[in-house]
Amino acid sequence: MTERLTVYERAGGEPTFAAMIDAFYDGIESEPLLRPMYPDDLKESRWNLQFFLMQYFGGPATYSGERGHPRLRMRHVPFEIGRAERDAWMRNMRRAIEKTDMPADVRTEMIEYFEKVATFLMNRPVANGPAPLPIIDSPRG
Ligand code: HEM
Repeated sequence: MTERLTVYERAGGEPTFAAMIDAFYDGIESEPLLRPMYPDDLKESRWNLQFFLMQYFGGPATYSGERGHPRLRMRHVPFEIGRAERDAWMRNMRRAIEKTDMPADVRTEMIEYFEKVATFLMNRPVANGPAPLPIIDSPRG
């Protein structure tokens, strides 16, 4: 029988997620399009994203214990996320993943996941693109 490890475990557990999210928010600090959307103090934002991702990728469910169901579409409604914002967020996350020490296949898996969710969270129409999705969360948030 093959042992199946979670992405959380293959990535290296909590220290890897902490390093990745630190790198992500360090990038947000100097990202003029995105910085104004976030609170001045990024401490809670760091916690939210780190613990959400740890949980999503198979780690402890601490995020839900504190924040309940993620409802990601709902929680992003206050922010204008068009193509430019989505791409800036992705660029920043790719950079954070590249800076963080983890296996190459885990990097690829994470980037594929982020590309999908970032598109799903867009809530502004795109020129010549499909109509934006209605604000209904998928069961997995
Ligand atoms: C597409 C571009 C995106 C923008 C502009 C954006 C922006 C934001 C902002 C401004 C916040 C509020 C900060 C906070 O209170 O934590 C936030 C929260 C959050 N975002 Fe995003 N986000 C984007 C994509 C994503 C993606 C792709 C994910 C996950 C795969 C994600 C996961 C989260 C989570 C988990 C929270 C905290 C929810 C909570 O517990 O309140 N975001 N985002």
